[in-house]
Amino acid sequence: MSTGPLPSKSEVRRTALTYGPAFLAPGLWAWAKFPEKLNWVSGLYGKAFGYLAAFYDTWTEVEGYGEALDEAVNEIRTVPGHILDIATGTGYAARRLKRLFPASQVTGVDISEEMVSVARYDAIADGVDVLFEVGDAADLPYADNYFDLVILQNSIPYIEEMMRVLKPGGRAIVVVSLGGPWVSLSWPALAGRFEQAGAQDAWGRRAGPGFFGIATKGLPGSAAGD
Ligand SMILES: C[S@@+](CC[C@H](N)C(=O)[O-])C[C@H]1O[C@@H](n2cnc3c(N)ncnc32)[C@H](O)[C@@H]1O
Repeated sequence: MSTGPLPSKSEVRRTALTYGPAFLAPGLWAWAKFPEKLNWVSGLYGKAFGYLAAFYDTWTEVEGYGEALDEAVNEIRTVPGHILDIATGTGYAARRLKRLFPASQVTGVDISEEMVSVARYDAIADGVDVLFEVGDAADLPYADNYFDLVILQNSIPYIEEMMRVLKPGGRAIVVVSLGGPWVSLSWPALAGRFEQAGAQDAWGRRAGPGFFGIATKGLPGSAAGD
């Protein structure tokens, strides 16, 4: 039996959140490589969250949940006029972005009506002005080239749709709050997909217990934006 000092509960939890969810990475990799073969997963995934809406906020309160998001948003140097949080769930990222960019118009969209109801309630309770709508990330109800910043945290990344609704020169951010070392391994496949969808660059790194990746949409006339 070890006689060393016990790690704190917080250290144990952080290690578990960083290294535990290894299953996320093969899922993301497979989605980046063969999205057309996995449409059935995405239907189930959306449905499952309808049942979790009542409990989901408790999960977002886990220590470290917002660290990767905060580090990603630190990379944004200009104030985005229009921001979209795709698969917003209970609106954690949307509310955070509105607080960081109070002058921006922030929209959160999710396939689950239950999640959207909780998101609306939480935003009112927090006094944060965000528009929440029901919609499918695979077929977003928004015009092409509209948003300056599009974020997707902890959900299936529909990369082509993210890039479609993003303005040329705008940023698309994928955040995975947990399992950062494993998600790093799946990032090259996701980055390749962003580049195919018109990103002029796509880079990512581990952050807190998780990971984030950022892609910039190419401008018209640039090789990526053609
Ligand atoms: C793990 S939760 C993440 C919620 C939030 N982004 C966060 O990080 O706290 C995944 C969310 O993705 C949503 N979702 C799943 N499939 C979707 C789809 N096709 N379109 C939009 N939302 C979807 C679910 O309803 C759920 O709210």
